[in-house]
Amino acid sequence: MGHDALAQVLRHLPKVIDKNLIVGAQHADDAGVYKLTDDIAVVNTLDFFPPIIDDPYTFGQISAANALSDVYAMGGVPRLAMNIVAFPAGLDLSILQEIIKGSTDKLKEAGVILVGGHSIEDKEIKYGLSVTGLVHPQKVITNAGAKPGDKLVLTKPIGVGVITTALKNGKIKPEDVQDAIEFMKALNDKSSAIMQEIGVNACTDITGFGFLGHAMEMAEASRTGVSPVNIALVFNIKNMPFFPKAIELVKKSKNHPKTIKSNREYLADKIKMSDSVTPEQANLLYDPQTSGGLLISVPSERSQKLLERLFAAKVSASMIGEVIAKIDRPTLTVKS
Ligand code: CO
Ligand code: CO
Ligand code: CO
Repeated sequence: MGHDALAQVLRHLPKVIDKNLIVGAQHADDAGVYKLTDDIAVVNTLDFFPPIIDDPYTFGQISAANALSDVYAMGGVPRLAMNIVAFPAGLDLSILQEIIKGSTDKLKEAGVILVGGHSIEDKEIKYGLSVTGLVHPQKVITNAGAKPGDKLVLTKPIGVGVITTALKNGKIKPEDVQDAIEFMKALNDKSSAIMQEIGVNACTDITGFGFLGHAMEMAEASRTGVSPVNIALVFNIKNMPFFPKAIELVKKSKNHPKTIKSNREYLADKIKMSDSVTPEQANLLYDPQTSGGLLISVPSERSQKLLERLFAAKVSASMIGEVIAKIDRPTLTVKS
């Protein structure tokens, strides 16, 4: 979900009281969870956006991986999906066919069945999916629940917003940033299954609000959730994974995604950044991520095991920080 003024409107929905509603709109989580039986809860989410990359097949793959991500972030297993399509009149329909093919191939990889969808004519292409997943009602992982002493683990490197902007402006070619494209296409399925097995306290996926934006949501949600604790998050910049190309691009060009600035302004008074954090690193910490990884808050004694299991499954993961007790207000500290 986006985090601009529009998203703020959508956050303020009427309060719903329903004993089966496990996660509703009041959480800044990107999926809703509703208990059907003692063993099964349904997870609902949707995501769609304009092409961030020229190749339609690749865009379809990335869009699907991104739409499924909110189910994985909650520890769920996606089962069904429906297309959301906006397409200009008169534009070559083979472009749409390629987008759908990329998406369907990704859904197949995830074991998800495409059951339909809806399309409209629009000035600009937009594509995404609504996704339905399943999770055990007792095993829902939300962005609330981080506890003092937890270690913070991040999967996937940061910086795809800067990279896709440079691609769009013709500053780089897709073959220069194949690694970033591969990461955007990668499902968060293995990370999700592994964190379910290990047992973690909180998780969120890193998308449009940038690394620090989603981290802040975790900090705030954990202070207001079902069992609130006063916490703040501390990150070690040395352990933050960035795409080298993103660092290079952000150094060279002033033409960054606009969202970096709006994310930075929105979070301004909540972030403490050590002087040793370079301006390039700081920019990337606010960079909007398309189909980013998972930020996981895991009890310290299980953190090593989580990392080992992720590495064994060939998931790129880093231990990037920890959760501390903090009384007054949630902050994010980035130190060296
Ligand atoms: Co989302
Ligand atoms: Co999300
Ligand atoms: Co319809």
